[in-house]
Amino acid sequence: MIVPRDPHERTMKQATAIAHPNIALVKYWGKSDVEQNLPAVGSLSITLDGLTTTTRVRFDESLTADRFLFAGGEAPGMAGRVTACLGDFRHRVGATAYAEVESDNNFPTAAGLASSASGFAALVVAADAALGAGLHPGELAEIARRASGSAARSIFGGFVELSLVDGGRGIETRQILEPAAWPLAVVVAVTDSGPKAVGSTDGMLLTERTSPYYPAWVASSPADLAEAHSAVERRDFEALAAVSESSCLKMHSVMLSARPALVYWNGTTVDCIHLLRGLRAVGVPVFFTIDAGPQVKAICLPEALERVGRELAGVPGVERVLVSGLGGGARPVAG
Ligand code: DP6
Repeated sequence: MIVPRDPHERTMKQATAIAHPNIALVKYWGKSDVEQNLPAVGSLSITLDGLTTTTRVRFDESLTADRFLFAGGEAPGMAGRVTACLGDFRHRVGATAYAEVESDNNFPTAAGLASSASGFAALVVAADAALGAGLHPGELAEIARRASGSAARSIFGGFVELSLVDGGRGIETRQILEPAAWPLAVVVAVTDSGPKAVGSTDGMLLTERTSPYYPAWVASSPADLAEAHSAVERRDFEALAAVSESSCLKMHSVMLSARPALVYWNGTTVDCIHLLRGLRAVGVPVFFTIDAGPQVKAICLPEALERVGRELAGVPGVERVLVSGLGGGARPVAG
């Protein structure tokens, strides 16, 4: 007997996933292969729980192209990267159907809060769940990494390390500590919620081409990674603070020494740095990090959270503060 095919089986392969942004403590900045989007340096991050991207992917054999909607509207700026990532995914699992993707964030996009990281992590996890492909998290991280280097880290929760392997020709991403094993808190001071002036990819390429300090930045990264990894294993806040601030400031030094210079900070960014350095000098367990934008991320022990949040909110020019703990990796959800 021939069983007629259920039309829903063919058209309704869909799933929803959530992912959280991550904040690098040892920074990724620079590519060894632009085509493959291979990072020139490893990195170490914490995944947040307070900020969330939710993405629904629906594969449909009747579609003639991928379609991407962000916050309910067309997003032409991102559509090309989403299509490329889906193409990579299809190639990996041998799928052919195009997909409709709907995504939204509960935090400001493109403002140095790593929305591409949570976006591509949620995308590949939702695509995997929709097709029941069952890829290993390391494989999902590899696909996400091609779309955006930092996205590989949002596949995992807690403390995450992305290491270069194979003489730099590949990456390996893994969790090094569960979020509950060292529940740090994060306060993001939003000093300008508009989109950033120069995106990470363009900024990295400019830096590599023009900063005389770029080779020193790359050469110093493995020692920073080892130091941060050890600090995390020992739950040594002071050691993690020292290496994280140093990695952040070295990254901004190569940005500042590019031609034309990449100045991601504004005056409020600098005021927040001084405030947080002052607090640590009087014994408050907090340190700062800043990505390719003007927001300041303060990492602290839970007992300092209330004070750090209050003091940052009081800095003139801080539009608002977002508070988060550490969270889990990208995962499918009902919906
Ligand atoms: C400053 O992952 O956005 O946030 O791979 O070009 O998409 P692409 O870059 P992206 O770069 C993140 C840079 C950073 C530091 C970090 O997250 O490690």
